[in-house]
Amino acid sequence: MSTAPQNAPRSSEDITREFAGRTAFVTGGASGIGYAVSALLAARGAAVAVADLDGKAAEVLAERLTADGGTAIGLAVDVTDPESVRVAVDTTVQRLGPLRLAVNNAGVSGAVARLADYPLAEWRQVMAVNLDGVFHSLRCELPAMSEAGGGSVVNVASIMGTVATMGGSAYVAAKHGVVGLTKTAALEYAARGIRVNAVGPGFIDTPLLHTVDDEQRAALVALHPVGRLGTTQEVAETICFLLSDRASFVQGSHHLVDGGYTAR
Ligand code: NAI
Repeated sequence: MSTAPQNAPRSSEDITREFAGRTAFVTGGASGIGYAVSALLAARGAAVAVADLDGKAAEVLAERLTADGGTAIGLAVDVTDPESVRVAVDTTVQRLGPLRLAVNNAGVSGAVARLADYPLAEWRQVMAVNLDGVFHSLRCELPAMSEAGGGSVVNVASIMGTVATMGGSAYVAAKHGVVGLTKTAALEYAARGIRVNAVGPGFIDTPLLHTVDDEQRAALVALHPVGRLGTTQEVAETICFLLSDRASFVQGSHHLVDGGYTAR
């Protein structure tokens, strides 16, 4: 029986540069979870394309990562537009080399309203970014990784890809959809050496949550048995684990990072 893959890191020292020589594409990479993932990937040796609707913020982060000794470029991308994603992935490959790693993270929270009252335009926008965006990204990344001889993708879903919350029909439906896309892609591309997994963060302290007031925030904290919200670093660590060869037998999973939220 075979043991661990030969390219798996042997010690914690190896982990610090485990992505050396690999190109990574991160959508929504300029803020929150995407920011932390881009920074951790660059610190561990990946050449990172920070791709974001806010192209300026993506460039600023890329410059910071480069100044810190990493390799990074900033790209403007709108994941709702398939052509924009295609150009961004092509540019990444041209400037940084064959694509081996991708994190489909761009997302919006959307309105909170009962289903029958959910604003149609808002429904479309949440679906366009959170679900169509992942589809558009996978359609470009998977062929690029096939060409590179294999790779690893992490889609950022949510606890709302497993459970529901009242008033969040669009977000919940989109995130459940991301989990389904993840499983389908994992089945279809496993034989080409591509692993596709999802992470499901609980509530994480990012700009996405800056609209909630103190009372709402306390109510959110109370939903997490660990007694606090998560940090972007905690999610980034899990994403990097799933991207890495350390997770070589993890395929098609939705990996929850939620402080016990869904364990109730
Ligand atoms: P954030 O608001 O800090 O960052 C999201 C990034 O996505 C921003 O930089 C934004 O410019 C970018 N973006 C938005 N629309 C885009 C588009 N059309 N094309 C390209 N980029 C676009 O949000 P956060 O919290 O870091 O969220 C990242 C992901 O994590 C999202 O998919 C979100 O649904 C998910 N998530 C967040 C949780 C939280 O509590 N913050 C919990 C569970 C999942």
